[in-house]
Amino acid sequence: MGVAQPAKNGSLKTVGRLSLLLGPDLAEVERILSRKLHSAKPHVARLTAHLQHYRGKRLRPALVLLSARASGSVEPAHHVLAAAVEMIHTATLVHDDVLDGASLRRHVVTINAGWGNPTSVLLGDMLFSQAFHLTSTVDARACALIGEATNRVCEGELHQVSQSGNLSLSEADYFDIIDGKTAELTSCCCRLGALYANAPTDTVERLAEYGRYLGMAFQIADDLLDLTGLEEATGKTLGTDLDQQKMTLPLIHALRELSASDAERLRSLITRTPDATGDLLSLLRKSGSLTYARHRAEQFAAQARSNLDLLPDSEFRDVLSDLTEWCIRRET
Ligand code: IPE
Ligand code: IPE
Ligand code: MG
Ligand code: MG
Repeated sequence: MGVAQPAKNGSLKTVGRLSLLLGPDLAEVERILSRKLHSAKPHVARLTAHLQHYRGKRLRPALVLLSARASGSVEPAHHVLAAAVEMIHTATLVHDDVLDGASLRRHVVTINAGWGNPTSVLLGDMLFSQAFHLTSTVDARACALIGEATNRVCEGELHQVSQSGNLSLSEADYFDIIDGKTAELTSCCCRLGALYANAPTDTVERLAEYGRYLGMAFQIADDLLDLTGLEEATGKTLGTDLDQQKMTLPLIHALRELSASDAERLRSLITRTPDATGDLLSLLRKSGSLTYARHRAEQFAAQARSNLDLLPDSEFRDVLSDLTEWCIRRET
C-alpha cells in the first residue's frame, strides 16, 4: 500500500511499518472500493477506471484501521468505514480541483482537466452518494458521524471560498477553515476506528482529538508544500492557493511581521504579479514565516501525540505517533 513515497528514512520507516501492520486490511479496503466503483454504464465505467489509478496516500483509511487496532481489534465494519471515508475524501478532491482549476492529482490528470467541470461535479456527487450508500450497510450511527463530518468539511471549504482575496484573514479564521475542511475528517476517521472497536468513551474522545490535531498539522504542511513543494513529488498541481488568493499561515504571518513597505510589496505579489513565487518566497524567508508555519505544525503534531498517552503500548500506537512526524516532514 502507499501511505507515502517519502524521501526521508524516518518516513520510509513509518510507511514500511504501516504496510506490514495493515497490508491485508488495506487490501480489503481496496476490494470494497473497486466493487463500489464498478459501473455497468460505459461512460461511468471510463471514469471509475480512471479512479482506479487515482490512488492517493490512503491516510484516512489507515487512520480508521490504526485507531481500531490501537484501541481494540479490526472488525468487518472498519473496512467498510475506511472505504467510505476515502470516497468522501476523494469526492472533496475531485470538487476541489474544479475550484482550484488544477490539472494534476495523484500523479495523473484531474477529472476536470480530462473530462471537464460538469463531469467533475457529477462524479464528485456520485462519490459522496456512494459513500453514504456504503455506510448505510454499517448502521445509522456511522451515517450520522460521517454525515456530520462531511457537513463540516463543506462548511470549511465554503468558509475558505468566502475569504478568497481577503488579505486580512486572521490566523484564527485560517485555523477555523483548516479545522473544518481537513481536521474534521481525520478526527472522524479516528473516532470511527475506536468506536467500532468498542473502545471506552474516553479512548474514543482522545483518539478523535489526536485525529483533529494531526489534521491541523497535516494541512499546515500541505499549505507549505503548495508554496515550496515539487509537483513531481506531490503529484498534484501546486501554487493554486496563491492563484486563488487563499491566505495560508506563512502569508498571514508575513503580513503581520514585515515592515509596512515589505508588507505592501507582499500584498502586490499576492494580488497582481503572476508567477512571482520566487520574490514571494524571499519575503516569506525574510519574515521567518516558513519557519513559523513549520513550528505551528510541530505544535499541533505534539498535541496530537499527547492524546495517545492513554492507549496501551502497541506497535499501532507507535505508528500513530510516528504519523504525526511524518505528516509534517513529508514531501508528497
Ligand atoms: C489532500 O489530501 C487534501 C488535503 C487535505 C491537504 P492528501 O494529501 O491526503 O491526498 P491524497 O489522498 O494522498 O491524494
Ligand atoms: C483542500 O485543500 C482540502 C479539502 C478538504 C478538499 P487544498 O486545496 O489545500 O488541497 P490540495 O492541496 O488541492 O490537495
Ligand atoms: Mg486544492
Ligand atoms: Mg493544498
